[in-house]
Amino acid sequence: MQYAVITGASRGLGEAIAHQLMEKNVNIISVSRKDNEKLKKDAEKFHVSYEHIPCDLSEPSQIDELLPAVAEKVFHEGTHYVYLVNNAGVIEPIETIGELDAKAVQKHIQINLTAPILLTNQFVKLANEQDVKMGIINITSGAAERAVHGWSTYSSTKAAINRFTDTLALEQEGQGHTIFAYSPGVIDTDMQGEIRSSSEKAFAEVEKFKQLKEEGALRSPAEVAGILMNLLQEPKKIENGKVYKLYDLVK
Ligand SMILES: NC(=O)c1ccc[n+]([C@@H]2O[C@H](COP(=O)([O-])OP(=O)(O)OC[C@H]3O[C@@H](n4cnc5c(N)ncnc54)[C@H](OP(=O)(O)O)[C@@H]3O)[C@@H](O)[C@H]2O)c1
Repeated sequence: MQYAVITGASRGLGEAIAHQLMEKNVNIISVSRKDNEKLKKDAEKFHVSYEHIPCDLSEPSQIDELLPAVAEKVFHEGTHYVYLVNNAGVIEPIETIGELDAKAVQKHIQINLTAPILLTNQFVKLANEQDVKMGIINITSGAAERAVHGWSTYSSTKAAINRFTDTLALEQEGQGHTIFAYSPGVIDTDMQGEIRSSSEKAFAEVEKFKQLKEEGALRSPAEVAGILMNLLQEPKKIENGKVYKLYDLVK
């Protein structure tokens, strides 16, 4: 039996990844605040299980409760492979340094960085104890590698997730897990809507992002998830710890 625990599968890229893993006979556990009715129906269609665990990843106490609950559902007799897709993410606060809201910064770091670290920590321990192989995919961003005016918090958490990914790969060498980060390019999701609604004062590149939408340069979540599925199809070719960039994969 294969499972995928996907954070942020209620919409956007996470939803598309969940849908496409179901097609590959993977049972899905979705972690987010809201559920997704369409995924429930997809699960029936593909004869896999689908379960939603409601969790606000910005709340440390909810993560504490989530960890044993999700582990119990995934690691049991009959499980031979587990994917962990750390996908849930927020872009806000979009604001220049000096104007950042303290609470928003703390929530952001909790969702984008602390939650993936704690989920991975729990899963790797159990997988190694029970000799279950894992595929750990951390969704990152090109912002990890360049300074973006107004995105200091987002760039920082995505840069940190890249370093977390390669450190994990270094420590887990020889364990048989597949570990990488996926940088998906610009996707037509709610997150891009939030980006476009920023003020130019808070985010200097806002006009460029509005233009990308107008030019139809944003990819659909389904296309971006499909490129990830192609990568997963050849696990032996995957270099653990690497950041795979969509733009390189489609060249
Ligand atoms: N869109 C892009 O252009 C783009 C580019 C590069 C990287 N990425 C990355 O791709 C990933 C997915 O982004 P997306 O564009 O699909 O974003 P999205 O459409 O805004 O979806 C975000 C997902 O994260 C979940 N989430 C947000 N806050 C949460 C919280 N407090 N607790 C639990 N779950 C929470 C949401 O679920 P609920 O609201 O139901 O909780 C939702 O499922 C993110 O890591 C993002 O940084 C996106």
